[in-house]
Amino acid sequence: MSEPVRAFQTAFARWVGAESAFAFWKGRVAMYAILRALGVGAGDEVILPGYTCVMDVNPIKYLGARPIYADIEPVTFNVQREAIERAITPRTKVIIAQHTYGYPCQMDGLMDVAGRHGIAVIEDCCLALGSRFSGKLCGTFGRAAYWSFQWNKPFTTGIGGMATTSDRELAGKIEELCRQELRCPSSRATTMLAAQRLIYRLFIFPRTTSLATGLFRWLTRKGLVVGSSSMAEFQPVMAEGFFTGMGAGQARAGLRQMKRIERNLAHRRHMRGVYDTLLRQAGAPVPTLAAAMDPVLVRYPLRVADKARALAEAPSHRVELGSWFECPLHPIETPLEAYDYQPGLCPVAERAAAQVVNLPLHPRASARTARRTVEFLVKTGQIA
Ligand SMILES: Cc1ncc(COP(=O)(O)O)c(C=O)c1O
Repeated sequence: MSEPVRAFQTAFARWVGAESAFAFWKGRVAMYAILRALGVGAGDEVILPGYTCVMDVNPIKYLGARPIYADIEPVTFNVQREAIERAITPRTKVIIAQHTYGYPCQMDGLMDVAGRHGIAVIEDCCLALGSRFSGKLCGTFGRAAYWSFQWNKPFTTGIGGMATTSDRELAGKIEELCRQELRCPSSRATTMLAAQRLIYRLFIFPRTTSLATGLFRWLTRKGLVVGSSSMAEFQPVMAEGFFTGMGAGQARAGLRQMKRIERNLAHRRHMRGVYDTLLRQAGAPVPTLAAAMDPVLVRYPLRVADKARALAEAPSHRVELGSWFECPLHPIETPLEAYDYQPGLCPVAERAAAQVVNLPLHPRASARTARRTVEFLVKTGQIA
């Protein structure tokens, strides 16, 4: 393992307050390592929200386990406790607590349900860097947590992921698994990713994001850039080279981001307040959260009148609107049946997928970005 990767692992573990951290090529690889180390295999069931990214389902399917989808509640888009209780069977091995958009799950209730049934909780913190529940950092409640550093995430190393845990036995198993099976990224992939990080730093801002995203997806399909997901990842069979570790360049980028982490989180908190105020003034409903919830949002989710039209019109207004989650297992191209999802299974999630866009509040977005974004939504009749 290279020195920057070791240093990034140490710095990240310290920041989270976990005993161990393991860096990977992507967040989904971190999730896979945790599931493998927990012994998840054929016949086991893993409960997760029916409002997620399909890349969160792949590791479950790769291991021959069954994803069981639980519906969400409509304000925080997090899994309903009652839906989890209904989904538990003697075969349930893991519950994934996904802190959607950065809103923390109700961890007290969730840990209570899991504890009564002896089920492991793994936290999906890919969208929730810095969020807290009852004053405690998300990522420190369950047996382990995983994090993503992909372009759209709270901070980016291009692509990248981390697993954290304070469970020594589990950490030992992850370490052993990595020692035996983890591959190094190819030098072609790490060089391309370094070039992409440079382009991102120089050219990607809220006004250019829509155009850049279209171009990036086209280049990904042509195999000309390191995409967040390859075409092979839209089927539930593990592709060659999936279990890959983090490269030194990604780790160095991660270490640079760690230096700015508190500024990043403070900016996100501030921007959430800016959106709350602007949206309230525009007459849109703003969520009232339980006192225990202290979110740091990755993007600001908002229901609009006509999602397809909003997404189609945003680029010509040079407004950055996000589309996730486009369907219960984002993105819209996902062959749902291959992932055991039948339409109608999670109606609240399906409604959210049809109505919700997300607004930028990352460090490159300012209060002016927020004003332009909300003005666009008002002007185009998206906010009732
Ligand atoms: C909620 C959630 N979990 C996990 C992942 C997987 O992260 P990565 O792209 O780093 O593999 C994603 C998205 O990509 C996600 O949105």
